[in-house]
Amino acid sequence: AGRVSLDGSKQRLLVVANRLPVSAVRRGEDSWQLEMSVGGLVTALLGVKEFETRWIGWAGVNVPDEIGQKALTKALAEKRCIPVFLDEEIVHQYYNGYCNNILWPLFHYLGLPQEDRLATTRSFQSQLDAYKKANQMFADVVNEHYEEGDVVWCHDYHLMFLPKCLKERNNKMKVGWFLHTPFPSSEIHRTLPSRSELLRSVLAADLVGFHTYDYARHFVSACTRILGLEGTPEGVEDQGKLTRVAAFPIGIDSDRFIRALELPQVQDHMKELKERFAGRKVMLGVDRLDMIKGIPQKILAFEKFLEENPNWRDKVVLLQIAVPTRTDVPEYQKLTSQVHEIVGRINGRFGTLTAVPIHHLDRSLDFPALCALYAVTDVALVTSSRDGMNLVSYEFVACQASKKGVLILSEFAGAAQSLGAGAILVNPWNITEVASSIGYALNMPADEREKRHHHNFMHVTTHTSQEWAATFVSELNDTIVEAQLRLRQ
Ligand code: ADP
Ligand code: G6P
Repeated sequence: AGRVSLDGSKQRLLVVANRLPVSAVRRGEDSWQLEMSVGGLVTALLGVKEFETRWIGWAGVNVPDEIGQKALTKALAEKRCIPVFLDEEIVHQYYNGYCNNILWPLFHYLGLPQEDRLATTRSFQSQLDAYKKANQMFADVVNEHYEEGDVVWCHDYHLMFLPKCLKERNNKMKVGWFLHTPFPSSEIHRTLPSRSELLRSVLAADLVGFHTYDYARHFVSACTRILGLEGTPEGVEDQGKLTRVAAFPIGIDSDRFIRALELPQVQDHMKELKERFAGRKVMLGVDRLDMIKGIPQKILAFEKFLEENPNWRDKVVLLQIAVPTRTDVPEYQKLTSQVHEIVGRINGRFGTLTAVPIHHLDRSLDFPALCALYAVTDVALVTSSRDGMNLVSYEFVACQASKKGVLILSEFAGAAQSLGAGAILVNPWNITEVASSIGYALNMPADEREKRHHHNFMHVTTHTSQEWAATFVSELNDTIVEAQLRLRQ
C-alpha cells in the first residue's frame, strides 16, 4: 500500500534514529572518514530498500566548527544521510546520561541507577532536559528536510519525545515510532520519574511498533494504568484519538549473508579459521560489550562446562567477539574489566602452552570476517539477560546452511519467540543449565541439528528486514487513511 506510486517513484521515507548507519572519524580540518556503525538498529534498517530513504541522525562525533560541519554534511549526503550536530555537553547528558544510563537499563529490567534513586533529582532533571532538547534538535532537522507526503519513522528509546515535537509543528505529518528494545512491564516503567510525559509524547505518533506482542501489551498497560487511558485491541485511545499499537518483529537482510558466503574473501577466511581450530569444536559469541548481553554469565557457564567435562577441554574453543560500546558510561567500563578478569582467570586455569579455551576480542569484525566466523561455528551462544530481539542469532542461522550448527538462546531475547522451536532455550542466570545445554549442543546428533536448523532458517529467510519495514510503513499509511475516514464519519 503506497510504496511505489503509479509513475514508479518510491515513497520517501525519513528514518530518524540517534545513530546514523555510518559514524564519522575526522582525518583533517575538512576531511572525514565514514565507518559502518555497529548495532541491531543499523543492521535491520540497512536492509530496507523499497523506499526512497533519507537518514537523519547523529554521526557519533563532536564537530564544533563550521568548516568541519559543512564537510561532514557533504560527505554524509553521498550516503543519503543528514547529520544532527550534538555538542559534547548534550551528548554527555542526553546520550551517556538519560539514554544509556537511565532508559536503556530500565527498559532491560536493570532498574534506575542508585545515585538518582537516592539523592539528587538534579542530575536526573538536567539529563531529562538535555534529552528533550536533543529531541527538539532532531525535530528541527526533520522539519527542515520534510516534504509533503513523506513518511517519518522515528526509532528507539533515544527519541521518545520526537513524535510530540513533530506533531506539534505539523499535525498532518505521518509519524511512526518503533522501539528496538523491550518495553518493560508497566510496574518497571512506573518507577521512572518522567513516566507519563514520555508515554504521552510517544502517543502523539500515528503508529507505535514493538518487536513482540508482549512489549506492545506492556506499553498499552502502562498507558492505561499510568495515564488512565483506554486500551483497545487496536491500540490506545485518548479523547477520541487512536494511536495504533502493534508488534512488528524485525528481521535481517538474510540474502546479504547467504550471498557473502560465496565470496572468495569469505571462503579464504573460513579456510584459515578451519585450519586454526582443526580438531576443536568452535563456539561463538558476538555482542556489543553491553551489560544486557550476559557476557560474564556466558563465560562462567563455559567454565562450568569445562570443569565438569575434562574430556572436552582440548576439543572446544569459545570465541567471544565483543565490540566496545558506550565507553563513556561507567557501567560499561566496569563490565569491560570484569569480563577481562574472568577470561584471564579461566584461560589461566584451563589453558596449555599451545592453546587457550577462550579467545576474547574487544573489537568489531568486518562483514566478511563475521560471516566466515558464523559459518564455521558449531554452537552459537546468546545469553542476554534481556534483549529487544537479538539479530546476532538471526545472522548465525543465515550463515549455517551447510554446517547446521546449534543455537543456544536466552529465553529473555525477543528472538526466543521466533527461533525458540529451533534453538535450545536457556535461562542465562542459571549457569548450570547453560553449561549442560553446551554439552547437549556439542553432542547433538546430525538429524536433530538439521531439523532445528531448518525451522530457524525458514524463519530468518522469510521474515526479513525488508518485509518488516514494508509492513510497518504500509500499516502507517493505512492507519492514517482510516483516521481520516473516521473523522469524516
Ligand atoms: P544490539 O542491537 O543490542 O547491538 P543485535 O544482536 O540485535 O544487538 O545486533 C547487533 C548487530 O551488531 C549485529 O548486526 C551484529 O552483527 C553487529 N555486531 C555486534 N557485535 C559485533 C562485533 N563484535 N563485530 C561486528 N559486528 C558486531
Ligand atoms: C541497540 C539500540 C540502537 C543502538 C545500538 C548501538 O541496538 O537499540 O538504538 O544504535 O544498540 O548502540 P549505540 O549506543 O552505539 O548507538
